[in-house]
Amino acid sequence: MNQSALDELLSKMTLEEKIDQLLQLTGDYYKGSDISTGPSSYMKFEEDTINNTGSILNVLGAKKLKQVQTEYLEKNRHKIPLLFLADIINGYKTIFPIPLGLGSTFNPDLVQESAEVAAKESAASGLHITFSPMVDLVRDPRWGRVMESTGEDAYLNGLFGAAMVKGYQGKSLTEEGTLAACVKHFAAYGAPEGGRDYNTVDMSERTLREQYLPAYKAALDAGCAMVMTAFNTVDGIPATGNKWLMKDLLRDEWGFEGVLISDYAAIAELMAHGVAEDGEEAARLAIEAGVDIDMVTPVYVQHLKKLVDEGKISEQLIDESVMRVLQLKNQLGLFENPYRFANEEKEKELILCEEHRSLARKIVSESLVLLKNEGALPLCKNNQNIAFIGPYADNKGLSGLWSIHGDTDQVVTLKEAVMKKVEGSQVHFAKGSEILDPDTKISGFAHEVEEKEFNPEAAKDDLQEAIELAKKSDVVVLALGEHSIQSGEGGSRAAITLPEIQLDLFRKIHEVNQNIVVVLFNGRPLDLKEINEKANAIVEAWFPGTEGGNGIADVLFNDVNPSGKLSMSFPYSVGQIPVYYNSYNTGRPLKKGEAGHRFQSRYTDIPNEPLYPFGFGLSYTEFEYSGLTLDKKLLTQASKLTASITVKNTGDYAGKETVQLYIQDLAGSVIRPVKELKGIKKIELQPGESKTVEFNITEEMLRFYTASMKFESENGKFKIFIGSNSETEIFEVFELKREE
Ligand code: GLC
Repeated sequence: MNQSALDELLSKMTLEEKIDQLLQLTGDYYKGSDISTGPSSYMKFEEDTINNTGSILNVLGAKKLKQVQTEYLEKNRHKIPLLFLADIINGYKTIFPIPLGLGSTFNPDLVQESAEVAAKESAASGLHITFSPMVDLVRDPRWGRVMESTGEDAYLNGLFGAAMVKGYQGKSLTEEGTLAACVKHFAAYGAPEGGRDYNTVDMSERTLREQYLPAYKAALDAGCAMVMTAFNTVDGIPATGNKWLMKDLLRDEWGFEGVLISDYAAIAELMAHGVAEDGEEAARLAIEAGVDIDMVTPVYVQHLKKLVDEGKISEQLIDESVMRVLQLKNQLGLFENPYRFANEEKEKELILCEEHRSLARKIVSESLVLLKNEGALPLCKNNQNIAFIGPYADNKGLSGLWSIHGDTDQVVTLKEAVMKKVEGSQVHFAKGSEILDPDTKISGFAHEVEEKEFNPEAAKDDLQEAIELAKKSDVVVLALGEHSIQSGEGGSRAAITLPEIQLDLFRKIHEVNQNIVVVLFNGRPLDLKEINEKANAIVEAWFPGTEGGNGIADVLFNDVNPSGKLSMSFPYSVGQIPVYYNSYNTGRPLKKGEAGHRFQSRYTDIPNEPLYPFGFGLSYTEFEYSGLTLDKKLLTQASKLTASITVKNTGDYAGKETVQLYIQDLAGSVIRPVKELKGIKKIELQPGESKTVEFNITEEMLRFYTASMKFESENGKFKIFIGSNSETEIFEVFELKREE
């Protein structure tokens, strides 16, 4: 449909019909399944409203969506098709690692492939739009939704956000197997005070622009079709009613012309926030901020018409929002084909097909981070007596909280994978303990978690069986972790250690066998101090998804050499939070390893450094960095500087290494981070092989928000660091002289 046809369609719509286009409902009004992902109290809507609603969320299945669309179009006066949206966060039916695991691959190209697969599978199931990528920058692992982020770095999150948009949207939304993407949560949802979900976010505009905004911009620059508002406040005004953020910045400064959708019930929540006395005020704030779709609350439907009738808002505002929704439907080709690519045969052919599973398996192995290894890894397929103990030794709950459309029974457990892999080695399995402590009470999410009555006798037997098994084993693999409902939305934790029942299991096993490999299943950086002190090896596996068992077994037995790097720091303890690599030097800096004195910026009881830093991850082989050179020491606005370094594989196995480029601006009109990631290159080296890796540095890469809040570079000296993680001390110095 061309624009004039859309204009004509809009002109024929009544004000009520236009307002109904801005409503999004759950599927239970349309015979669809209702996977509720928010606080939806059952709302009474008129039949007319339901027949004119613009979109529904989290209903999937080719047959079902065709039926819903057919019945809807029979009743819709203008034959405007429904939009179907859902949370496809880390895969639809082929579930990939949670985004924090995807971030640990440091491989945006590979993650783009996962988004392509997610789009192919869900588009065949009738989906139009996914509420992804989530690019919220995170520095506080107490917040449950760090599992949905690719980490603490703006540049890296931008690479992944753009890659996911390209993966979902392809070259055109009229192409089969594509989805429109919706970047979220705009903005700075990842910085709630205390790491407590939905809590206040308060920061300087400089920090907002330097750290928290760039990844959203990168996703929009990649062509992202939609934006979702965040629940939190930004500078005292909730994002969903924040005109500065949504109109002045998003639409006017950045030029975003697409659809802006509220998060779940966020328009109504303007009242709870205390910026709207009633629903009418909430409706006015949101529509004036340019929020187009009201997700699952009746605020727009109940108040916008009255606001127009009383002249408090112009109908033009509503027309603009409705037109953006109609244009999005048009971009998706829905007026020509309201069923788009819904196709039962395609669904059967694509969902969980071998090709998708093998990609998932590959991504799992690249997302694993080897945090420690004093020789227990890799395991041997022959002549080894291996015990796999722990609640995750044979558990299908590996997909994380946002796998709401996935099929748990399709997940490959660690036990299933190991049984297929070992040849002569003896392998035995024991649960050892439950995941959660007996007194832990956590409500579920979209899928409830069966409440298990704690049975002390059974617990004692489980523990004893594990201890006996550990006693007679050469090596013990302890598969431990959080329950998936302990992270994700509403999953904030004040303490971030493993459940006590599992720490007790770890201690009891360590008493009888010190050759322990800990494999972790968790949705956040944890406080691993005790594990780190006693385990021989530690593998961070996140929630790895459908092919979790296979990908982990590939790494444990060295069919794949681990190459993951942390995209979020692991704190030494919860008291250290927030801890992140790109911090500021302070006026009284304490150098790593220095004892320091009282009057320096330090703790008296723990080190300043995280337990494991951003960018950190080991391999079964070793990489040696040498010969950092710059082709010039003076950079001007017109030139570029090339830094090169030689990386050699000095170990026994082939392996991949992510070479990281960091830059430090030694003095600016405002303080500058001690390091900022500016480039990554993932290379593969055979044993003994060397490669020279080059990075180009330009003046543009050195720009920041200066004291006058202008985005520009300043003359002066800079350090270039290149290494295998953010604590690298391999550097050279250069100078920027813009004027030359
Ligand atoms: C949830 C989440 C958001 C999700 C939306 C729809 O509350 O905050 O990330 O996309 O509602 O399910």
